[in-house]
Amino acid sequence: LNGKATARANTNIALVKYWGKRDAALNLPAVGSLSLTLEGLSTRTSVAFDGKAAADSLLLNGEPADPRALGRIARFLDLVRARAGIKEHARVESANDFPTAAGLASSASAFAALALAATRAAGLSLDDRELSVLARRGSGSAARSIFGGFAEMQRGQRADGEDSFATPIASDWDIRLVIAATVTGPKSTLSTDGMRHTAETSPYYDAWVRMSEADLKTARDAIARHDLEALGTVTEASCLSMHASAMAARPAVVYFHGATIEGWRIIQELRKSGIPAWFTCDAGPHVKALTVAKHASEVEQALARLGRTWICKPGPRAEVLEVNA
Ligand code: DP6
Repeated sequence: LNGKATARANTNIALVKYWGKRDAALNLPAVGSLSLTLEGLSTRTSVAFDGKAAADSLLLNGEPADPRALGRIARFLDLVRARAGIKEHARVESANDFPTAAGLASSASAFAALALAATRAAGLSLDDRELSVLARRGSGSAARSIFGGFAEMQRGQRADGEDSFATPIASDWDIRLVIAATVTGPKSTLSTDGMRHTAETSPYYDAWVRMSEADLKTARDAIARHDLEALGTVTEASCLSMHASAMAARPAVVYFHGATIEGWRIIQELRKSGIPAWFTCDAGPHVKALTVAKHASEVEQALARLGRTWICKPGPRAEVLEVNA
């Protein structure tokens, strides 16, 4: 087999966060989550199986990847090989269409694009549910990037994880997410490690897990009603609860920098002045604000002093760009 395929997937930002696993081996989340896929921040990945290659290889933005990243990709490709009944190694090339130095690189877009490209290159044609289950094995957040717009990830109950996948939430709500990339600084704790340590040592972890069902319902209902205040309020609360659980870990996992807090305060001030905007932040220092199209440039201007900014619309689903299997 010498199949080759290229796919693209966009990153997503969780409005109701995923933080913690119920099974590490199958990468099953301890909580459901709900996200918005973003336009303009995508990963394009090519996978070429090659009978002559002695091992898997990975080029990230044109550079050979470090051993940890390559190992993670190779283990993921093993899942695809097992499913397709093939043995060939693959050459993987992956590039982001946004500056990687800004620290916005995302395992969500990376593993969604890889799941699609690798399965097609292996001659497989999975449906969306199967693709989402597979992408989850690479990274929990990647299960949501199979879909465009809003998506909800199911925690699932089954031990085999076959009910732990994302589904799209149909909506024509033209919402905006403004991103301000703050400091690049020292590399933060990877989310996989941060959530494991939180689950093992934080006295607030159980409380975090208990809140998530209610937050998911609130977010789902708010999206159905196009209720920005309700969605923004639960977005900010879910993010801060997640970070609170991490900060209470021993030793603490702290992703906020000074600029992150400054961004959060700017967003609070915007709200006081009548501009609807709500803060969220992932396993890094960057500031993200949920708002509507009408107010997006005011929010962007207010956050511009923190660093480079993007205004993101709801983005498209993952798609295959080329296939030669
Ligand atoms: C804070 O999906 O990166 O961004 O499954 O271990 O790869 P793994 O974790 P990952 O975690 C994302 C954490 C988050 C919140 C979210 O995206 O829901």
